[in-house]
Amino acid sequence: MKTLTITRPDDWHLHVRNGAVLKTVMPHTARQFARAIIMPNLKPPVTTVAQALIYREEILAAVPADLDFTPLMTLYLTGSTTTAEIKKAAECEHIHAFKLYPAGATTNSDSGVADIKAIYPLLAAMERHDLPLLIHGEVTDDACDIFDRERVFIDTYLSDITRNFPGLRIVVEHVTTTEAVQFVLASTPNIAATITPQHLLFNRNAILAGGIKPHYYCLPIIKRESHRLALVEAATSGNPKFFLGTDSAPHLTSLKENACGCAGCYSAHAALELYAEAFERADALNKLEAFASFYGADFYRLPRNSGTVTLEKTAWKVPAVYGKNDLSITPLKANEELPWKLQ
Ligand code: NCD
Ligand code: ZN
Repeated sequence: MKTLTITRPDDWHLHVRNGAVLKTVMPHTARQFARAIIMPNLKPPVTTVAQALIYREEILAAVPADLDFTPLMTLYLTGSTTTAEIKKAAECEHIHAFKLYPAGATTNSDSGVADIKAIYPLLAAMERHDLPLLIHGEVTDDACDIFDRERVFIDTYLSDITRNFPGLRIVVEHVTTTEAVQFVLASTPNIAATITPQHLLFNRNAILAGGIKPHYYCLPIIKRESHRLALVEAATSGNPKFFLGTDSAPHLTSLKENACGCAGCYSAHAALELYAEAFERADALNKLEAFASFYGADFYRLPRNSGTVTLEKTAWKVPAVYGKNDLSITPLKANEELPWKLQ
């Protein structure tokens, strides 16, 4: 049987929520990944070090006792974040970044930043304290076509931010376009990007052709095939600017299969397997380890993990749902076969 053993990977962009959903999803991530950057877009958002430390404890309590998993916490940037909180975050060993959501761009982003220029003093403080900034790079302008929102964000905001704060480490989260890949490639080593499994495996036909498929709907929305190809090329290129970030974003099935379905794909149940499928299709399985296990840690200046995980080329069927009854979550590729399985 064909197997692939790699250094234990990390997930550099993850939503685990809280309460009952956290208990359902946390074991999936902890059996695959040693660490994950935890997104702060709870209701209410995690805006302070004190809140993040409480949330961290809740996450640790949801990790099965036989697994060893470290949550890497982030804070939600708002117009009211203070430079004192940034200093505090920089001094706290458990906080690894701030997340910038343009207000209204995505799930639970209402408290995000409405005026990006107005928070430049905060970006200056992050640059000074060497605390990375993670960006959801989409404009929120109603007049902007949803498929153009990432590209327009780069031209309207990101170029200016990187010019003004050359020392600030930035992760352009979940890149989805050729233009974002090109922007990251053309920038300094301080600028990196995460790439999700769904953006490597699917184009927008998955959402819209042959009926509307809400479980493929996430933000930034999956784009056309030419963009998918650019993302696959970036992920499999061996360039350390691109690393694994699933953006696994659980929503209850009832809120996805809805007249106004929530944005977010749940992929933590099979994250590494989905990436292996994408890398194998590109004939680049030998590039998976660095993408999944080295480049993110290097960017965040954390040690690479010890230990390994092994994937086998064994088909298995993804369950229809995880979790019970009205708390069920429909995973990506529900009821479908995956070619790779984590041992
Ligand atoms: C994420 C969520 O549900 O929290 N949704 C998504 O579509 N990716 C938020 C985000 O990362 O944009
Ligand atoms: Zn996300």
